[in-house]
Amino acid sequence: MPRKIVVTSALPYANGPIHIGHLVEYLQTDIWVRFHKMCGSECLYFCADDTHGTPVMISARAAGITPEELVERVHKEHKADFDRFGVEFDNYYSTHSPENKLFSELIFSRLNEAGSIVTRDVEQTYCENCKMSLPDRFVRGTCPRCEAENQYGDSCEVCGSTYQPADLINPYCATCRAAPALKTSEHYFFKLADYERQLRDLIAAGHTQKSVANKLDEWFEVGLKDWDISRDGPYFGFKIPGEENKYFYVWLDAPIGYMASAKNYCDKNNLDFDVLWPGAGSTKSGEGQYELYHFIGKDIMYFHAIFWPAMLTGSGIKTADKLFVHGFLTVNGEKMSKSRGTFIKASTYAEHLDPECLRYYYASKLTDGIDDIDLKVEDFINKINSDLVGKFANLASRSGPMLAKKLDSQLGRLDEQGRELIGKLTAAKDQIVEDYENLKYAAVVRSITALADEANRYVEQNRPWVTIKSDLEKTRTTLTATVNAVRILAIYLKPILPKFAEKVERFLNVETLSFADFDTVLADHKIGAFERLAERIDEKQVNAMIEESKQGQPPQPAEASVPEPLKPECTIEDFAKIDLRIAKIVKAEPVEGADRLLRLSLDVGGLEKTVLAGIATAYRPEDLTGKLVVMLANLKPRKMRFGVSEGMILAAGEGGKDIFMLSADTGAEPGQTVH
Ligand code: MSP
Ligand code: ZN
Repeated sequence: MPRKIVVTSALPYANGPIHIGHLVEYLQTDIWVRFHKMCGSECLYFCADDTHGTPVMISARAAGITPEELVERVHKEHKADFDRFGVEFDNYYSTHSPENKLFSELIFSRLNEAGSIVTRDVEQTYCENCKMSLPDRFVRGTCPRCEAENQYGDSCEVCGSTYQPADLINPYCATCRAAPALKTSEHYFFKLADYERQLRDLIAAGHTQKSVANKLDEWFEVGLKDWDISRDGPYFGFKIPGEENKYFYVWLDAPIGYMASAKNYCDKNNLDFDVLWPGAGSTKSGEGQYELYHFIGKDIMYFHAIFWPAMLTGSGIKTADKLFVHGFLTVNGEKMSKSRGTFIKASTYAEHLDPECLRYYYASKLTDGIDDIDLKVEDFINKINSDLVGKFANLASRSGPMLAKKLDSQLGRLDEQGRELIGKLTAAKDQIVEDYENLKYAAVVRSITALADEANRYVEQNRPWVTIKSDLEKTRTTLTATVNAVRILAIYLKPILPKFAEKVERFLNVETLSFADFDTVLADHKIGAFERLAERIDEKQVNAMIEESKQGQPPQPAEASVPEPLKPECTIEDFAKIDLRIAKIVKAEPVEGADRLLRLSLDVGGLEKTVLAGIATAYRPEDLTGKLVVMLANLKPRKMRFGVSEGMILAAGEGGKDIFMLSADTGAEPGQTVH
């Protein structure tokens, strides 16, 4: 019986373009789906845009359109990008859909009935100016540990510490820069711990890869905390039933989007959703008829291995048979970076290079593990030119034109040696099929390349370019074997290179190739016109793509340059509280573990003060001794990770090398008041 399989990829956020990092996932999944379709299975591939949440709301505000308009625009762009790369969904839907609303409400009410939903007060940061609650990432400020400026509300990129937005020094709203307030609000929580046993059983039964299971064990050890699943309005999302101003948190309805996309497909194609994905309907008909698989990146493991199966278990809906987790893309060994031009949008790539080359390259790197995948530019060019062009396409260009010009495009029969070659090629089938099934694409590509080497050796031994001058029929026999080798390699490569395979189908003048075609040999057959199957990559193309990716990076909406509104008024009395004094730097030394900080010992007219100043990127300690600076001397001492700081030095600048202390080296005396 052919298998019935439902496959999903994570739903890309609707607040940004598809980039080559995303494509690791969509190509990995697409290859798997195409492989199963080629095996004759009924395989359905569902995805959607992940539309809800604060970033989309803010991006829409910045663009002066409604979130719905933004979501629609992005949907078209995403769809176009996926089409270019041959990612062929059976349905590409949206989480902002009636099906998703219905399922979200259903799951919420079932969890509620099961007693797994509780409410509790939370303290949250709120921007009076933007009139909205601020998610952690939308609050910025100075790190409470290392004093690095402009850090996110949840963690510091400089010292790596994590904290609450309320812990930031001088917090401000990332959108408008106003100081946020703290507000108490009632939130809904999902009691994850209710499902710990089921989750542990699921993982133990091989729900996901071993390396992922190990990570999950760590999380179980830490303990499953209640999960905050509500957000206060204004929020772009689904309202919680019975509430006026509370919405489901985007991560609650996002995975439900998998179901919504499938349901929408079923309704359009006369399929019974309850059979496809049992449990959401009133009857549990057809349990287990379809296998269900999710593909995701390792950054969203917690959501898919903990939250999502807990939600499904709690509401009696089928959980996935397996969760496949992949690693992250790096370029030349580093994180994708806008300034280096390696944050490459799918559309930019497609303007400069053939999408099939990226499909081939990723396949050649992908394993079933969660290690990161590195796109090394030089290696990429080499692999395409030496393998795709030099081995696979070459085999066709060694046979096609000669057959057309000299042999009337007519194939003959295989001789003993030809049969042997084709026998070797078809014998690899079981291994290749197994590797595809187990996501070992790098092994697949290695096997196929070795077979192509074998076929090229055969051509070299038989030298058709020589025999063509003396023995037409011998040449026809050689080229018949070569063309059959091209055919088999194209079948093997088809899940990875669908366009390449289509060209081969036209060239061979055959119907759609599938794994069932291994049993036949093309003989006494007239082939079609030859067309080039792949083009070499020139380094210049890659450089142009990288250059273009460096340019035209518009400011991110969340950090758009809005004029900084003034802080609340300060009175002359407030100002009078500030005591600015001349201070002499007696000693300056680096602070171990804090690259930006210097520890300054100051003489403030007989008074000794220690200040941890964030000026290490601009000043060398040895240049500072003896200098006179201006200091805010009556600042309440603050305990920091690296010690107590008893004041502040006046300085201005952009940061980095551009920090300028206000110098007082003009004959002033330490301790003197500055007016
Ligand atoms: N919207 C969520 C997923 C919700 S699923 C119910 C999300 N979106 S995303 O756009 O950030 O990422 C979509 C998928 O692409 C994720 O699986 C993510 O891991 C993957 N990738 C995003 N950047 C990636 C790389 N640089 N490298 C590899 N995969 C990457 O997360
Ligand atoms: Zn604001």
